[in-house]
Amino acid sequence: EKGGYDYFMLKEIAEQPKAVADTLLGRIGTDGRLTLDELRMPDRMLREIDKVVIVACGTAFHAGMIAKYAIEHWTRMPCEVELASEFRYRDPILDQRTLVVAISQSGETMDTLMALRHAREQGSKVLAICNTNGSTIPRESDAVLYTHAGPEVAVASTKAFLTQVVACYLVALYLGQVRGTKWGDEITGVIRELSEISTQVGQVLETMEPVRALARSLKDKNTVLFLGRHVGYPVALEGALKLKELAYMHAEGFAAGELKHGPIALIEQDLPVVVVVPSPRGRSVLHDKIVSNIQEIRARGARTIVIAEEGDEAVVPYADHIIRIPRTPVLLQPLVATVPLQVFACELATARGNEVDQPRNLAKSVTVE
Ligand code: M6R
Repeated sequence: EKGGYDYFMLKEIAEQPKAVADTLLGRIGTDGRLTLDELRMPDRMLREIDKVVIVACGTAFHAGMIAKYAIEHWTRMPCEVELASEFRYRDPILDQRTLVVAISQSGETMDTLMALRHAREQGSKVLAICNTNGSTIPRESDAVLYTHAGPEVAVASTKAFLTQVVACYLVALYLGQVRGTKWGDEITGVIRELSEISTQVGQVLETMEPVRALARSLKDKNTVLFLGRHVGYPVALEGALKLKELAYMHAEGFAAGELKHGPIALIEQDLPVVVVVPSPRGRSVLHDKIVSNIQEIRARGARTIVIAEEGDEAVVPYADHIIRIPRTPVLLQPLVATVPLQVFACELATARGNEVDQPRNLAKSVTVE
């Protein structure tokens, strides 16, 4: 049942190109426009929304953080992302014009369920992004967009995460398409590039051996830090979460711009720091800033592990290790940049003798608040 892999997690990592392709299947028309009739939310209603609020937990929350960048960019609507467990306790401002998006692989996470119930009580419409047909969260929502990752057995979420990100982009692009934004041409281009992303995820998977070797060499470390900016920031958080839950190591993700506001004090000789570098094309200012961050931490002794696009030579002088990822549009980078971090955490867990599919103290779906 593990399809020849030692762990479900490895099998599920390997299934990601298919999971991503399946989540796009039938949703992009031959004219390059999205068809999401399955949402059964009338265009009129989608045009009346004035705010999007995303609620989710854990890895699904990281997908939500990425979605915020996409939704705000392509729709020019404000979008908030909130940990589901915090949401209803702070008296959030919600009304009929707020679209609440609840993201959950299992569809049974109690924190997320309670958040969506609260939103509906306030009159908001709830759209679920979910991987489990007929589970509680989609049943209690006004609409659902299923991710087609297939069953995810390992406790650590991998293919569900990638498909959540894809589904969030579909929602963002669809809202942009229905509402009409100045990004019309860009949206058409991104939809095209999105359909190529599963091949690129496959390419990343073929180059993971050095990442495994690197992970094994770090098995006796106590701490690993992760840095990113823009959509690379949630990727850094996701890399850190994977390492905590699988390798039981102290791992933290930071927005790279925050380094100088405190975390840089943590940098010491030989501390592994993984840096997710944005594309030098597109938001090149961010790229240059993160390159100076890498320079700064390396000057303080950090062992820099740099995830950078093919052809990005600016990082080379400051990188102890480079993990190459294919070129993608800025907003799509998380779909390729997360994969090495999953492999990294899985290999470290194995090297430390941990149970990969069933980490201690964790359950696949958390059905208590
Ligand atoms: O089933 P859900 O997507 O609602 O689960 C949310 C989190 O519990 C889940 O993503 C958790 O953080 C994973 N174990 C992370 O790998």
